[in-house]
Amino acid sequence: MSFNADCLLLFGATGDLAQRMLLPSLCALGADKLISPDLKIVGTARQPFDDAGYRNFAREALEKYLPPERRGSMAEFLNRLHYQPLDANDTSHFVDLAAKVGTPKEGLAIFLSTAPGLFEPTIAGLSASGLTGANVRIGLEKPLGTDLESSRHINDAVASAFSEDRIFRIDHYLGKETVQNLLALRFANILFEPLWNAAHIDNVQITVAETVGLENRVGYYDGAGALRDMVQNHMLQLLALVAMEPPASYDSTAIRDEKVKVLRCLRYVTPDETVTGQYRKGAVEGQPVPGYDDELGKDSDTETFVAIKAHVDNWRWKGVPFYLRTGKRLPKRVTEIIVNFRPVPHSIFASKAASTRPNSLLIGIQPEENITLQLMAKVPGLDRDGIRLRPVPLDIAMNDAFAGPVKRIAYERLLLDLIGGDQTLFVRRDEVEAQWDWIDDIRAVWAEHGVKPKAYAAGNWGPSAAIALAERDGVTWHE
Ligand code: BG6
Repeated sequence: MSFNADCLLLFGATGDLAQRMLLPSLCALGADKLISPDLKIVGTARQPFDDAGYRNFAREALEKYLPPERRGSMAEFLNRLHYQPLDANDTSHFVDLAAKVGTPKEGLAIFLSTAPGLFEPTIAGLSASGLTGANVRIGLEKPLGTDLESSRHINDAVASAFSEDRIFRIDHYLGKETVQNLLALRFANILFEPLWNAAHIDNVQITVAETVGLENRVGYYDGAGALRDMVQNHMLQLLALVAMEPPASYDSTAIRDEKVKVLRCLRYVTPDETVTGQYRKGAVEGQPVPGYDDELGKDSDTETFVAIKAHVDNWRWKGVPFYLRTGKRLPKRVTEIIVNFRPVPHSIFASKAASTRPNSLLIGIQPEENITLQLMAKVPGLDRDGIRLRPVPLDIAMNDAFAGPVKRIAYERLLLDLIGGDQTLFVRRDEVEAQWDWIDDIRAVWAEHGVKPKAYAAGNWGPSAAIALAERDGVTWHE
């Protein structure tokens, strides 16, 4: 299925994602001449815009969300845009949509970012109007269901019209440069791989902390919660990239084969291996913020924080806990992975009363892109009172190492790969299903044990039970 789409059809073209991410990404790609001047972009949603109205709408979004230096010629970009209003539940509307799309010379790429309830009617409308042929591929934005069953339902509906090699499931974390860099760190260096196993690694921590709260997403978030919003997709993808075996090549099948094996090795958790929380009023970065229930306007049992002690039951990771935590209204926005190594097997410094500390590797994903390896070093001196040792960081700040390249929006990469047909950074059906299988089991455990989120004041690292989850294994969360 190798073709470069010369038409991109955006469903949800007036939504939040389109305004903040998709239109800015496409405009920036146009400015950098990374998409063909002939690429036509057709937007569709319920709003009754015509082309000119949509171009104005897009201009406002670009002025708000894309820095001026990345905009290039906005007029040139806006001229690519076309718009067709559509009610996805009315199949007849797809006839006009197909007419607006016309007959692309090479092929069509569709980006579906709509409410989950519209997936099926949209696929049916696309099929009925001839927009699912061999030269059409489709990108699907989350949420793809709320559990394994509903995700299978959606996947079946999509599969009835598109073969798997034409389905591009989006996890925008895979579009982040630093996430892709995990593969380079692990597999383009000889240093880490021999140590990357249970014999040398004590535990792994993955934190995705956010300072934002509900962000006007009441309808969606309260029905989802942190587990389904963040762990099911982004965090499990990070875990899979950290834990997978070396793929034979940088190829979409090879990489996804290895990720799915890890996801299938996730052990079902016990009730004492998860902690959930919900923020109450507090202060984040010095600003007072309301509690979740105040923002929502009612009481709720939805978790805005979750911490999990996960296990990957295979030869490489036997006995190594993966501590995962994510939450809203935490003290700072940070996504990082910490690999804590084991202590040296025998310390020659013990006789000198000097203690060694295990090495650790910190991989900062955002906002700082850095890699820090903590190494033990001797404190300079004549050692009259014995040798002193101290950890010192070996620090690589990606921004300094690679000054020059622009910091791109994750969707720039993903849209480019969708247009060009490279599936490596998209999630395969078997991965999604393995992810849901594990998540569903956690939710079943919560339901069975009547688990309700514990309160935490906004601006804290979740409820204290989350600290205890790691502390009782003698592990401290990196902060
Ligand atoms: C989305 C979640 O998938 O990821 C949001 O739905 C979350 O709740 C967002 O805020 C975080 O993305 P990023 O790129 O800002 O880390």
